[in-house]
Amino acid sequence: MSFQDELNELFLTEEQIPTDFKLVEEVNQRAYLSNGEMLPWNGDVHTVLSPICIKTANGLQRKVIGTYPLCDKEEANAALDAAVNAYDNGRGEWPTMSVAQRIERVEKFTHEIIEKKQEVVKLIMWEIGKTFADSTKEFDRTIEYIQATIDALKDLDRQSAGFTIEQGIIAQIRRSPLGVVLCMGPFNYPLNETFTTLIPALIMGNTILFKPPKHGTLLFYPLLAAFKNCFPKGVVNTIYGRGNKIIPGLMESGKINVLTLIGSSKVANELKKMHPKVNRLRAILGLDAKNAAIITAKADLKLAVQETVLGSLSFNGQRCTALKIIFVHRSLADEFLAQLSEAVSKLKFGMPWVNGVALTPLPEPHKPAYLKECLEDAIAKGAKIVNENGGATNESFVFPAIVYPVNAQMKLYTEEQFGPVVPVVPFDDLEETITYLIESTHGQQVSIFSNDEDEIASLIDPLVNQVSRVNINCQCQRGPDVFPFTGRKDSAEGTLSVVDALRSFSIRSLVATKLNDSNKHLLNEIIDSHSSNFLSTKYLF
Ligand code: G3H
Repeated sequence: MSFQDELNELFLTEEQIPTDFKLVEEVNQRAYLSNGEMLPWNGDVHTVLSPICIKTANGLQRKVIGTYPLCDKEEANAALDAAVNAYDNGRGEWPTMSVAQRIERVEKFTHEIIEKKQEVVKLIMWEIGKTFADSTKEFDRTIEYIQATIDALKDLDRQSAGFTIEQGIIAQIRRSPLGVVLCMGPFNYPLNETFTTLIPALIMGNTILFKPPKHGTLLFYPLLAAFKNCFPKGVVNTIYGRGNKIIPGLMESGKINVLTLIGSSKVANELKKMHPKVNRLRAILGLDAKNAAIITAKADLKLAVQETVLGSLSFNGQRCTALKIIFVHRSLADEFLAQLSEAVSKLKFGMPWVNGVALTPLPEPHKPAYLKECLEDAIAKGAKIVNENGGATNESFVFPAIVYPVNAQMKLYTEEQFGPVVPVVPFDDLEETITYLIESTHGQQVSIFSNDEDEIASLIDPLVNQVSRVNINCQCQRGPDVFPFTGRKDSAEGTLSVVDALRSFSIRSLVATKLNDSNKHLLNEIIDSHSSNFLSTKYLF
């Protein structure tokens, strides 16, 4: 079959979808979790359209997956009140509960959501077009993250179980919650990245207001019962609706203590400014990125090509860590482009349930048009699409385009394309690549490809001060999840990792007294009677 035929035949009729992957029925969500109850919703709803189109007598139509509530300010404010009341100025059941009890609740929650795996994985696939294999990986990685978080908290708690004596003062130092956390995740890892902030925030004793991402919303519906069953009322509350309608009021209330968002820096900045007491707001943010690959004249070209394909096109380039601009030494450029084009031509494209498929339809409705605009802009300014079929589009599907030579005048030089376009820039002097990173508004990661130790060393020192992770001879990535995940400039605020997230969503508090006999007696009495959850030497195993 020719490429064009394959592209035309990409989408199937309803009958052609394999039974195991069919959505048996639409998910019409008419309830949301607020203040410990699944509240019924009879108002407006949003219709969720899949990136996967269905071949019909009237042409291609995005599959309707279901609907979810479009709540308004009133419901959002009620959810905020529920979270504020559950926190109760730090006196609520959840923030004062022992770490062991909180862990127990999160373990129960984990068991309950594992039961929902099949449903959730299928919804991830249908809502954002992620391959079935990667949707499954996303679910499993999330469970592993929760388990690792529990272990890390036990460690942290063990370290805090003792007392510190300094200059005649004895103190017990622990980490305490911050208050109400507004949590919003991204569409590309709707479950995983949301839970990498929500779970640490929750387990540290904060109360949560959680707004699911715009794409990747319904997949949380099967999990709401577990939140309801496992945590005291008001500890986890959901808000559904248009972000620009419901979020400003929440921020302006001044009652949000932590804003955690994986998304755009523009939105994060606007939201932060709405808070009336900026010093009371902590922000843990994973934002835009434009990670570069630097392929020097001394690189192993085959390896650089392999990693560029993975780095720039896994999940169609829709990863914040994706390689979004490739600098290649001019002496290798032709060969690199030839090998890269060949590798891209071998990528299997199709429906996300197909075994071995790498490229799938895109969930953001405007994305194909935006990518086209980027390609046209680059072509008008002197670049070419160098790979066969690059940029070919059928509705929500766009075949990857390798664009060369990209220069500073083009959108693709600075804008985060977040899609299947690979801009390649030739360079003569490594200094040009360092200058790019210095001038960039982003500062997440970089990948260097070279086999020369002196050359790598000469890049490491300037680059670690531009970005937060320098990858050598491999693509950029967030994992392993125990590694710190952060960024400089407009790419992040705060640090996430299994351990760092626990610190990010808490503050150290200590109980201190002068070390004399009567205080020793007092402390011993409190510890022996287990009357305080904070002042305690209980050791968590
Ligand atoms: O979208 C950004 C994700 O954090 C990337 O994670 O590098 O594991 O794909 P990943």
